[in-house]
Amino acid sequence: MALIAILPGDGIGPEVTREARRVLEQVGDFDFEEASVGGAAYRETGHPLPDATLALAKRSDAVLFGAIGDPEFESLERSLRPEAALLGIRKELGLFANLRPAKLFAGLEEASSLRPEIARSIDVMIVRELTGDVYFGEKGQGTTDAGLREGHDLMRYDEAEVARIARVGFETAKRRKGLLCSVDKANVLETSQLWRDVVIEISAEYPDVSLSHMYVDNAAMQLVRDPGQFDVIVTGNLFGDILSDQASMCAGSIGMLPSASLAGEGGLGMYEPIHGSAPDIAGQGKANPCAAILSAAMLLRYSLGMTDAADRIEAAVAKAIADGARTADLGGTLSTGAMADAVLGALA
Ligand code: IPM
Ligand code: MG
Repeated sequence: MALIAILPGDGIGPEVTREARRVLEQVGDFDFEEASVGGAAYRETGHPLPDATLALAKRSDAVLFGAIGDPEFESLERSLRPEAALLGIRKELGLFANLRPAKLFAGLEEASSLRPEIARSIDVMIVRELTGDVYFGEKGQGTTDAGLREGHDLMRYDEAEVARIARVGFETAKRRKGLLCSVDKANVLETSQLWRDVVIEISAEYPDVSLSHMYVDNAAMQLVRDPGQFDVIVTGNLFGDILSDQASMCAGSIGMLPSASLAGEGGLGMYEPIHGSAPDIAGQGKANPCAAILSAAMLLRYSLGMTDAADRIEAAVAKAIADGARTADLGGTLSTGAMADAVLGALA
C-alpha cells in the first residue's frame, strides 16, 4: 500500500491537510504517517526539520505538506526558522521542479482581482525552479570599509540546473497547448543570460513546442493585462515565487492553488497548497481547504499514477464551487470542514 507522509506544519496547515486526508481516504486505501515540521517541530524538538521527519519523507511514496511559518520564530537565527525546514526538505529530496497551476474555477470570476472577462481566460502552469538561484547562493551580512552594514545573496545557476528545469517546462508544454514562455531578466542579469542561452539550446529537442522569452517585469504586467496569452511559464526560483502568488489572485484566491514539487522522472514528490500558514486565521476553521485538496489530487496524478481519482477530485472541487460552496476568502461563510464536506458530497 502506498505510504503518504503528511507534514501538517504551522498555522492553517493542520486544518487543511486534515480535510485533504479525508478526501484521499474516500478515493483509495493508503497508509498515512504524520510528522511535525516548521515552527511546530521547533517547539517540540528544537529544530524545524527533525531527522525523523526527513526520514519519513524519504521512505514515503509521496509527501503532503501543509504550511510553515510562525511569527513567534521570526527572530530566530535563519537556520532554525520554520522556512528553513521547507527549503531544507526541497533541497534534501532534490525537488527541483515546482509545478504551480493557476486556473479560474467557473463561478469564482468575482473573487479574482481582475475583471471577470479577463480572469476567465487564465489557465497557466508556472514551472518554477526550486533548489537553486538566489535562495541557495552564498548569503550573509557584513560591514563595508566605510563601516556601513551590508547584506548580500548570490544569484547563481549552472547550465545543468537550467537544462533540467527547461526540459520539465518543454515536456509540460508538450502535454498542454505547446506554448512555453521562459521568464528571466537577461537585460540586466548574467544569471538570466545563461538561463536564456541554455533554454534556447534545449529548445532544439522540442521542435513541436513554441518558445518565447519575456523579462520578468513585463511578465508581471502581462499576467494581469492578458493572462490568457500564457500556457506554460518556466522561470527561476525567485521570479517563480513572486509570479505564482500574483497568478493566484488572478485566479480567484490563493486558497485555491495547489502545487507539486518533483525530483524528476520516477523521483519523490511533495505536494502543498501555495498559501502559507496564515497565522491570522489559524485555528478558527476559516481556511479554504481546496488548495490542499487539489494538492492531494496532484499527488495522486504525479506520484501514484491514479489519474482517474485525481480527475474525480478536481471535478468535485469544480462542482462544489459551481454549486455555490464558498469559504471566507471566496466571499462566503463556510467553515474549513463544511467546504470539504461539500467537495466530499460532490465526489460521492
Ligand atoms: C513558497 C513560499 C516559500 C518560498 C517560503 C515560505 C520559503 O513563499 O513556497 O512560495 O519562498 O519558496
Ligand atoms: Mg511564495
